[in-house]
Amino acid sequence: MSGEKKYSVVVVGLGKRGMHHAEAFWNNDRFQIVGLCDINKERLEAAAKKFGEPKTGTDVRALLQGRKPDIFCFCTLPQLRLDMIRLGVESGARLIAFEKPVALSTNEALEVMKLLREGKVKTVVSHQHRYGEHYQKVKEIIASGAIGRVHTVYGTATGWMMHMLTHLIDYMRWFNDNAEAEWVVGQASGKEKFADNHPSPDYVAGLIQFSNGVRGIVESGDGAPDVPEVDYWWRKCRIGAQGTEGFAEVLTGGGWRAITKDSGGVISGPGCMDYAHDMPPYIHQIADWLDDPNKIHPCNGESAYKGFEIMMAICRSATQRGKIKLPLSPGEPELEVLEKALPG
Ligand SMILES: NC(=O)c1ccc[n+]([C@@H]2O[C@H](COP(=O)([O-])OP(=O)(O)OC[C@H]3O[C@@H](n4cnc5c(N)ncnc54)[C@H](O)[C@@H]3O)[C@@H](O)[C@H]2O)c1
Repeated sequence: MSGEKKYSVVVVGLGKRGMHHAEAFWNNDRFQIVGLCDINKERLEAAAKKFGEPKTGTDVRALLQGRKPDIFCFCTLPQLRLDMIRLGVESGARLIAFEKPVALSTNEALEVMKLLREGKVKTVVSHQHRYGEHYQKVKEIIASGAIGRVHTVYGTATGWMMHMLTHLIDYMRWFNDNAEAEWVVGQASGKEKFADNHPSPDYVAGLIQFSNGVRGIVESGDGAPDVPEVDYWWRKCRIGAQGTEGFAEVLTGGGWRAITKDSGGVISGPGCMDYAHDMPPYIHQIADWLDDPNKIHPCNGESAYKGFEIMMAICRSATQRGKIKLPLSPGEPELEVLEKALPG
């Protein structure tokens, strides 16, 4: 709308997800892309051509020199988080938008959160699947009370931990009204995927006790249940809630289904995870939050941190055994310790 403030954006890391972000900012008249950065010159040039030839650079620090974007967005692989957050905070940006996972360890995530809180910088982390119509429908059914009192929330994915687990936990927490987690018990197996750019045990499972009495159950990776209704491997995720009078669940690539106290059998509907559908509202709500501090973004970083913390507590439990109480204090880097602890 004319007259509304346009927020300036710098986007760093123009791979798959950086391009999705840049595209959504570009197509929304509340934002103006003022800078693009990637170490890969070809990607950088192609993105610049597509998004109005803003200032470009292969070095973030140099690109930010002397400029203060409203939004600093970076979509690099998980190995690059803390340094980017520091640069974003130093740039004076009001909001930092970045990709899951929040970090690679609790220590790093705590540093990330400290910098953001001290700098009073808002942040959003891209757990954007929730904008899918099927995710929204499941949330609506659960929130309406149609499945009775929720006692269990759950999520499974055949994709491995650093790719998928915080997605599952984020939507599970949402279905459970973002209740605090009190303790976690976890188990893991397999070391092959520690060599991946999303380093993870091959399989991980966790039980979560939430403060409202609800039990959470998660599994991710090789050995997690198949979702035969879904063809596309990365979308074989099933996330839902069971209550005293029914259940409701979303299949990331296969719609939703439920039994409610009044449904008289299974009811279901369509929906499939789609970046083109999910990114525009995710990005638009960044402008809403910057316009009005009360319109807190559903994917805010404080909430993402809680999900990340649960994932790290599962890893700690897999090495230390027993219940891990939350909140977590700094400790040894969870992935390194877990890799050493697991049998070869
Ligand atoms: N939310 C989702 O649905 C979703 C889906 C896929 C991936 N992801 C996450 O997005 C993140 C990025 O994944 P991707 O698939 O887009 O990766 P990618 O490899 O396609 O893109 C990363 C880009 O960052 C660039 N880069 C690396 N170091 C840089 C630096 N120092 N400065 C500037 N640019 C740099 C690379 O050249 C590359 O172009 C990961 O954390 C991943 O987990 C999220």
